[in-house]
Amino acid sequence: MAILNILRYPDARLHKVALPVTVFDDGLRALVRDMTETMYAAPGVGLAATQVDVHKQVIVVDVSERRDSTVVLVNPEVVDASGVSDIEEGCLSVPGIYETVERAERVRVRAYDQHGKSFTLEAQGLLSVCIQHEMDHLKGKVFVEYLSPLKQQRIRGKLAKQLRKSA
Ligand code: NI
Repeated sequence: MAILNILRYPDARLHKVALPVTVFDDGLRALVRDMTETMYAAPGVGLAATQVDVHKQVIVVDVSERRDSTVVLVNPEVVDASGVSDIEEGCLSVPGIYETVERAERVRVRAYDQHGKSFTLEAQGLLSVCIQHEMDHLKGKVFVEYLSPLKQQRIRGKLAKQLRKSA
């Protein structure tokens, strides 16, 4: 297993669109293991392959308190969505920034696991928001891009400052 490097906003590679997984092999399962380890180490509640510069439709999520309920979603697709949720979101690619984005309260998602088995997941609340956030990453979208241009500019300034401090 390995801890992977997480891309930081506004890295242009976060805007790449991920391709569907077509082969469910050991390479995919190794990616899922590494992404899971990286998410827990960060620590975070979700990670999309895009964030570790792998442009395949793979997501790992765990919103449980005990951090023992990993959900792996390969080629996820929202088949139904309802309600409105406004839970505050953060992102491992945008450290220290928390903002509210309008999301569906409930989603039904169809996906595959890392072995190629298809399943349907009903999610609500934080899990629903987290899945929608990670699916946006696969489309090349970072959550702060829903905010006003002025807010985005402020966030980029804040992140640049963080980077200078840590350099
Ligand atoms: Ni994120």
